[in-house]
Amino acid sequence: MINFTYSIPTEIWFGKGQIKNIGSIAKKYGKKALIVYGGGSVKRNGILDDAKKYLAEAGVDCLELSGVEPNPRVTTVKKGADICKQENIDVVIPIGGGSTIDCAKVIAASAHYGGDPWDIVVDPSKITDVTPVISVLTLSATGSEMDTFAVISNMETNDKIGLGHPKMRPVASILDPTYTFTVNKFQTGAGTSDIISHILEIYFSNGEGYMQDRMAEALLKTVIHFGVIAIDEPDNYEARANLMWSSSWAINDTLTWGKPVAWTIHPMEHELSAYYDITHGAGLAILTPYWMEYVLSDKTVDKFAQYGVNVWDIDKNMDKYDIAKEAIKKTREYFNALGMPSTLHEVGIDDKLLDVMAKKASAGLEDAFVALTAEDVKKIYEMAL
Ligand code: NZQ
Ligand code: ZN
Repeated sequence: MINFTYSIPTEIWFGKGQIKNIGSIAKKYGKKALIVYGGGSVKRNGILDDAKKYLAEAGVDCLELSGVEPNPRVTTVKKGADICKQENIDVVIPIGGGSTIDCAKVIAASAHYGGDPWDIVVDPSKITDVTPVISVLTLSATGSEMDTFAVISNMETNDKIGLGHPKMRPVASILDPTYTFTVNKFQTGAGTSDIISHILEIYFSNGEGYMQDRMAEALLKTVIHFGVIAIDEPDNYEARANLMWSSSWAINDTLTWGKPVAWTIHPMEHELSAYYDITHGAGLAILTPYWMEYVLSDKTVDKFAQYGVNVWDIDKNMDKYDIAKEAIKKTREYFNALGMPSTLHEVGIDDKLLDVMAKKASAGLEDAFVALTAEDVKKIYEMAL
């Protein structure tokens, strides 16, 4: 295990009805809040009104920014940052999925930056301070509710960039699994695929972390078990609760610290979203099994066999290549069971931009579990067509 410093300061308020505490939580940080939300799901299911009621009771004044896009745009970040600066906002409260929370985090960071918010997306070392963020999660997927990251898109330049800063980790998050009962089958499948992908990105790394890997396997088994249940029974509390807490744990750094980790599938997917605005989890579900097939070799087969035995309960006495191939097959079948596409054509992507996307995605993949060049990435995209 390599050295690390453990610090996950996000206060978690988990369970039914925790929204009633939002006023007292927010009051600790100030009296003026900016509530940030997306296309309106939180209006329709009443979460926004509840939050506003409890904030008002606690004496917290609220302004609102609506319309955060899935794959949030830097233009929306700028709108929010301007409000924060003009109105001296003390606390930013995103209510929604990962897109809303990510947008709010970068709004909160941009509020303390004099220039264009895109500057800090490209270079987060420019972040000096971040207004406290309290997230109210409504979709189990990205883990943004408990991590330091945000992913912002610039559709003018076809860039989708992930940035991280310790100060962007929410100071508190309300995780009420009942809020995810209204998430439709497709978004539930995409969210579950995203959680699985986060764990796999960390699991398949070039370094041992015995404890981390066993925890990763336990989380994978949990998510695999409950993902399909949540699709069949949208208001199954245990399924939604297990997915929600797993989504936070998949990426809150617990699995990562102590291991050298460099992600592979996410950079490849972000290019698809940047150019074609597709749903993140669907892109990951398409690419992951093809990537697995592509990197399976004498060097990697033991890890894939371990994955097959410990996650998919494949007979450990079988030949290790057979176990690995069976595990990859089961991974694909599971994404299918979640209702995810398995080819790029299904999400409207053809071969026109493969070169440019492969070139951009491959920057930084030299340290990945298996180092990939632009040519390798293009081959994986071609397998996925
Ligand atoms: O906009 P509204 O009306 O709220 O509808 C949303 C949106 O259309 C809807 N939704 C959310 N909660 C709902 C609901 N519909 C009904 N009931 C509810 N309770 O779901 C749709 C998708 O929402 P979005 O926030 O875009 O989904 P997700 O949480 O999957 O976030 C995806 C974004 O996060 C980034 C992705 O790249 C993508 O931009 N990621 C962020 C990460 C992070 N911060 O660490 C890591 C991830 O790997 C990922 O890259
Ligand atoms: Zn993801």
